[in-house]
Amino acid sequence: MSKILVTSALPYINGVPHLGHMVGCLLPSDIYARYMRMMGNEVLYIAGTDEHGTTSEVGALKEGMDVQSYCDMYHERHARTYKDFNLSFDYFGRTSSPQNQEITYHIFEQLDKNGYIEERSIKQIYSVDDRMFLADRYITGTCPHCGYDKARGDQCENCTKVLEPTDLINPKSSVSGSSNLEVRETKHLFLNLPKIEKELTSWIKTKEPFWPDVAYTIALKWLKEGLQPRCITRDLKWGFPVNKPGFEDKVFYVWFDAPIGYIGITKQWSDEKPEERNWKDWWLNADGVRYVEFMGKDNVPYHSITFPATLLGTGENWTKVDYLKGMSYLTYEGGKFSKSAHRGIFAEDALKEFPADYWRYWLMSNAPEGSDASFSFDLFAAVVNKDLNGVLGNFVSRVLKMTASKLGEAVPAAGEYTSLETDLINNLQQRVKDYLKYMDDMEFRKALNELRAIWVEGNNYISMAEPWNVIKTDEKRAAAILYNCINLIRIFAILSAPVMPQTSEAMLAKLGLAAKDMPLLKDFDVKKEMSAVLPGTAFNVGEMLFERITPEKIAELKQTYGSDNNENKVA
Ligand code: 2FM
Ligand code: ZN
Repeated sequence: MSKILVTSALPYINGVPHLGHMVGCLLPSDIYARYMRMMGNEVLYIAGTDEHGTTSEVGALKEGMDVQSYCDMYHERHARTYKDFNLSFDYFGRTSSPQNQEITYHIFEQLDKNGYIEERSIKQIYSVDDRMFLADRYITGTCPHCGYDKARGDQCENCTKVLEPTDLINPKSSVSGSSNLEVRETKHLFLNLPKIEKELTSWIKTKEPFWPDVAYTIALKWLKEGLQPRCITRDLKWGFPVNKPGFEDKVFYVWFDAPIGYIGITKQWSDEKPEERNWKDWWLNADGVRYVEFMGKDNVPYHSITFPATLLGTGENWTKVDYLKGMSYLTYEGGKFSKSAHRGIFAEDALKEFPADYWRYWLMSNAPEGSDASFSFDLFAAVVNKDLNGVLGNFVSRVLKMTASKLGEAVPAAGEYTSLETDLINNLQQRVKDYLKYMDDMEFRKALNELRAIWVEGNNYISMAEPWNVIKTDEKRAAAILYNCINLIRIFAILSAPVMPQTSEAMLAKLGLAAKDMPLLKDFDVKKEMSAVLPGTAFNVGEMLFERITPEKIAELKQTYGSDNNENKVA
């Protein structure tokens, strides 16, 4: 058993998440955490809301609330949505927690003590009309590197380069749209990344065989270009006040305390039950922890360079990322999802339309890995109707209905295997091996493709074995075929559990079983599992697992959320 620490990028607190956020880090991390638990590992899965910075100040201002109440309210909304999506966090915390403040202060003090913090006067943009310093995301303008004209002051999402707001050409306030901006000089603290560069480079080099190409390439590209000192303080009210004399009126930059938030949130978790949990077992001088981080690809530089450098600079032995899964983007009905432009279907609305597993399956079988993926209601309905309803749901209902009507509502007797069964078992053994390998490698599209192929094996088997014909002449053989099919239902439930936990439970419940009865996947043997459900066990046919999505429903969804009138409808 290994200790596996899994984190999802911490979603910004402002507003509510859309499907792009769900598939960009939250869902893949959940599926991986569930899978790793089923492989018999000790997993700690941590996430939470990223709460500091101008984003929250501006969001609260727009909603007429004070920032604390605004964050409290949105934290609850995020937590509820993720619970409804069945994300299995061990703890969903907050970067604004006292625990995170304590650890942020400690890490800062260590960096300062070790000479990695320097004072500099910088020119910052002050919006005269907004009467505030406009940090980062709230300044838009043209990227000096690639010419993209909607680059934000913290990062250009076109070329992924991290920017300082003053780098932008023709900057404008995105709070008011005003270009009445002044550059004012203020004193700030910088993390001296060049001074840590050597140590960071040797650490990154140790990761080469393990990191996915995309993360490793981004990190190397950054190092090649040479690291710059990074400003870690801001002239804002909302954030942790800087714990250094002369800087008390400033706060730490959101990107300084956000990744430290993974540690702070783990401390929130351990403070709830200090007698049995210790955050340090995962983070500080922690033995044998494998740390896997999930994030959108725009986050990769922060997590491959800035955060590890921050931890290295303390001179302490913090757990650093072992594997970094960066996801690309999901587009919506041919355009971009955008929280600020109200384009896209939000997670809360998605769950009002269909159960979580419909979304979990669709999003992960179309996960934007390597390249971007595109969501449309037509594609969504096609997959739900074909894979979930047509392949899995239909198999389960057909098998149980046929058994109930021909043989009664108890599992029939097993029989001798013919070549049909040995072929089925051989095919499944190979497919399960491939499925587990793809899950290990976090290749989710391929894993889900394999999962679907596993369900198809069930349909192929029943089509070839034809129990509805066999029963006319050989009831014993027909019973044995249906016995095998019922065992397949349990096998499909177990294998589908990381992806579709509710459906998996519903399938098991039909056979009088519960999730806790599932065997570990690490020693999953198809042959053994094919006779796990005992003859005579009562079952119930119950309802279909999935509902078909009709053309009328698709039209209605497009009307409600579709790209044409979306701006009015999704808010
Ligand atoms: O990109 C984002 O949504 C950030 N809020 C991610 C922060 S991840 C970590 F550093 F906290
Ligand atoms: Zn750019």
